Amino acid sequence: IKKIAIITSGGDAPGMNACIRSICLSCESEGIEVVGYRSGYIGLLKKESIPLHTSLVQNLLQRGGTILHSARCEKFRKDQYVKQAAKNLDDEEIDGLIVIGGNGSFKGAQKLQYYWDKPVIGVPGTIDNDIAGTDYTIGYHTAIQTAVESLDKVRDTAEAFERIFLVDVMGREAGFIALNSAISSGADHVVLPETFTSAAEEVMKILDKLSKRRLHHKNSSHIIVVTENIWPGGLNILQQSLEKETGVDVRILTLGHVQRGGSPVWQDRLLATKLGTHAVHEMIKGKKGVMAGIKAAIPVSIAFDQIDSESKKLNPFSMQMLESLMLLG
Ligand code: F6P
Repeated sequence: IKKIAIITSGGDAPGMNACIRSICLSCESEGIEVVGYRSGYIGLLKKESIPLHTSLVQNLLQRGGTILHSARCEKFRKDQYVKQAAKNLDDEEIDGLIVIGGNGSFKGAQKLQYYWDKPVIGVPGTIDNDIAGTDYTIGYHTAIQTAVESLDKVRDTAEAFERIFLVDVMGREAGFIALNSAISSGADHVVLPETFTSAAEEVMKILDKLSKRRLHHKNSSHIIVVTENIWPGGLNILQQSLEKETGVDVRILTLGHVQRGGSPVWQDRLLATKLGTHAVHEMIKGKKGVMAGIKAAIPVSIAFDQIDSESKKLNPFSMQMLESLMLLG
């Protein structure tokens, strides 16, 4: 292997830069040249590559975002474009591609591996942590930290005004950020896609919890963490029902894309560095069509076709803890 290419694809995540850095440093010590394509698969189709010299990746470990930029590429769903990408990689004499991204990006990587004979290796980079086969994804810990800091702050104003706050956190269709930011900030309730049944039942659960808490605390301030996109009709519907039922002011805070930004916390820096290095070493060993993931702190390789997204579950111990914790505050 003489020349490796990198792309960052899909939702950017804090730690993607740290991963680019570790790939470049590992390649340098093996005498391998590295290039990066801009904006994920889009850059690959447009042949927009830049050489990634070691000088470019200095001071990159702590920087949020991705110097390669990122994008979602609709065209890459079609075989003709995947074949074009394979040809472009051959034209530029690339010997292997590392894709840092989430589930959608790995689908593209798997397809590309089908049409290209050189190795494609994925590195899980998404704040959602919704990729099976790896305990954690790059960016997830930073997103929780950002959410927790915001939840701590909103609690101050919630208490001052004795209000209920509905805090919308990201996660796409998974409750990892919601569950762990709720536990880590001492929220009063969390609405998770994994346990959501219906709006009516969830409102009952919330009201039951709030009334029990009020008996304990005699205070009407409450923080409810809600996973994005889950509430039918939007969070203002829940806001209206809670205001009607409790007579307490309810406000909505949508954390949104701030969760994707910022300097990565140490867990993401370490993970990104381990996985970037592991991906390069696996490629040198001849592995292809795999994701470089982490299991019990040890880097592992899982074939793209073995990644079963249904199988990634929230931690059962955390789920059990929820009920008792959230009643007592
Ligand atoms: O996958 C990362 C993520 O931030 C999700 O949590 C969220 O649902 C989605 O991307 C938002 O996408 P966009 O940046 O296109 O609005």
